[in-house]
Amino acid sequence: SFSPNSLDTFTEEEEMLRESVKRFATEVVGPKVREMDEKENMAPEVIKGLFEQGLMGIETSADHGGAESSFTSAIIAIEELAKVDPSVSVMCDVHNTLVNTILRKYGTKEQQDKWLPQLSQDKLGSFCLSESAAGSDAFALQTRAKKDGDHWIINGSKMWITNSYEAEIFLIFANVDPSKGYKGITCFITTKDVGIKIAKKEEKLGIRASSTCSLNFDDLRIPAENIIGGEGNGYKVAIEILNEGRIGIAAQMLGLAQGAFDKAVPYTYQRTQFGQPVGTFQGMAFQIAQAAVEIESIRLLTYNAARRKEEGKSFTKEAAMAKYWASVIAQRVSGQAIEWAGGVGFTRETGIEKFWRDSKIGAIYEGTSNIQLQTIAKIIQKQHL
Ligand code: CAA
Ligand code: FAD
Repeated sequence: SFSPNSLDTFTEEEEMLRESVKRFATEVVGPKVREMDEKENMAPEVIKGLFEQGLMGIETSADHGGAESSFTSAIIAIEELAKVDPSVSVMCDVHNTLVNTILRKYGTKEQQDKWLPQLSQDKLGSFCLSESAAGSDAFALQTRAKKDGDHWIINGSKMWITNSYEAEIFLIFANVDPSKGYKGITCFITTKDVGIKIAKKEEKLGIRASSTCSLNFDDLRIPAENIIGGEGNGYKVAIEILNEGRIGIAAQMLGLAQGAFDKAVPYTYQRTQFGQPVGTFQGMAFQIAQAAVEIESIRLLTYNAARRKEEGKSFTKEAAMAKYWASVIAQRVSGQAIEWAGGVGFTRETGIEKFWRDSKIGAIYEGTSNIQLQTIAKIIQKQHL
């Protein structure tokens, strides 16, 4: 096998989940990958399949219709999906590690009872933080919420929102009191029918089946009970969830790197030139060995960060390291995989070039590489300054 699972720290339940996600990814997602990429559209059967497989409420309690599994299970699912299609992987990632987690971590019992069952059952969620003028500087967001009796009125716009084309549930970050700076940021939850408008669906280099839209909010009327985590606490909600979410993106990049490796390496042993399989020339064999080491390094970083988080240990630095390094390695390995397959790797037919296009986003979303490095640097400085 070209996907040796060198870690033996998974529980039986986690191993079983890995096998079932692998089957779903290969049998249901696999045949649709190329068409979804070319049409820039997520097949409805894939979204339905994710729900039916129990992959949209991985950590959600059974009471709320979820699988009640571990955080590591969510990371395993994201990795396995990315081996086949990083677009499907990020849909599952955002829904679980950002949207569901916010409700599980900060929602009141009433909020959890209301929203989590729908999110496990069939309603896709999205996480609306970034804006055109507030990307890395996310806390400078300009969307505003004003109180109106027992409601809030939200005005503004968001940009780059994953899943938003298909989503029915939206977590929106808006500032209720700009005089307090980022301490006015508040998290609201709402359904789409309050008037959320899709302004533009982006056309992208990679993860093309994953929708990315700009949204307009004109006088959205949201009940006060839909504030999650308290007024003015939205910045903490956002960044604490992103710290966890970054492990999900590391897993996406890990799966992507392994997926590209698994497609290209067997080809190098079948293809002969100069009377010998090309993968056995030392120049090729050493590149393949090096890539295997690099993939191993991101597997260890990713699952170490996941277990630390699960065990209640500090993990912000480890998550930033895993996300940063996994995006570097995913890009490097998927780029090399194209070269290993020669001209064939450069065509759409093999699917190897798609991994490379998809890898680029790892260094951009959920905090760019520089933001990860800044996060790591600040933690190192705190220990020494
Ligand atoms: N963990 C916990 N708290 C953090 C933190 C972290 N990693 N980084 C900052 N904070 C806290 C600080 O402690 C401080 O809070 P207090 O005042 O309560 O102490 C507050 O945040 C502000 O801190 P800074 O002044 O240091 O932060 P900043 O304003 O310079 O930047 C940031 C903070 C916006 C979080 C920035 O570091 C960052 O991460 N930017 C990237 C934003 C991002 O990841 N967006 C992702 C959007 S979702 C997405 O992309 C999904 C997808 O594609 C799939
Ligand atoms: P900028 O912040 O303008 O960065 C431009 C460059 O400047 C980068 O190289 C950056 O590293 C560098 N830079 C910026 N600040 C610093 C600094 N202080 N020090 C050093 N270098 C710096 N957002 C959501 O809220 N929800 C989503 O679901 C979501 N999905 C996305 C999906 C896609 C496909 C994309 C492209 C984006 C998505 N985003 C989402 C937004 C994403 O998180 C932002 O694009 C990202 O945080 C970077 O912001 P920006 O694009 O404005 O880049």
